[in-house]
Amino acid sequence: MNIPSVQLPPIPEARPVRILFICLGNICRSPAAHGMMQALVDSRGLSDSFVIDSAGTGGYHIGSLPDSRMRAHARRRGLTLDHRCRQVSEADFSDFDIIIGMDASNVANLRRLAPTPEAMAKVIPMSAFFSIATRYDHVPDPYYEGAEGFELVLDLLDDATLNLLDTITAARH
Ligand code: 4NP
Repeated sequence: MNIPSVQLPPIPEARPVRILFICLGNICRSPAAHGMMQALVDSRGLSDSFVIDSAGTGGYHIGSLPDSRMRAHARRRGLTLDHRCRQVSEADFSDFDIIIGMDASNVANLRRLAPTPEAMAKVIPMSAFFSIATRYDHVPDPYYEGAEGFELVLDLLDDATLNLLDTITAARH
């Protein structure tokens, strides 16, 4: 693996790993990460070992499908994104083992929301799973960008989801 080792929070061995991806709106970046990670674990025959979801720190689009531009770009890579937007809540800190923010603002908002130090330790930036070679330190918000912005998000997530799976697999064996 070509990423620095990431300190994962403790994850019980006996049950699936529960991962929650977080961005601001839960209509672009986090539903794409969610759909991509689900497709990855499904393709490896690991569906029963993971529970994957996504949510937003904001509540502007609750109940909506992902942004039509993100759905179209994901579709071109064979991914169908059909998550319905929801807002993150304090209960998510007990319902999930790893809570991954797309950018520094998401991470700061999650840390403020975390009810305990153990909950705060579950919050990890997605950039922790970027390969060393990337020049990005976050997943940039594509909402006001063109097609390149959406492609960049998908490229970064492709890299990070693979490294995330490798990191979890290594930690559990
Ligand atoms: P996301 O992108 O956080 O990747 O889902 C955004 C979507 C919507 C808004 C901002 C960011 N918004 O302000 O409505």
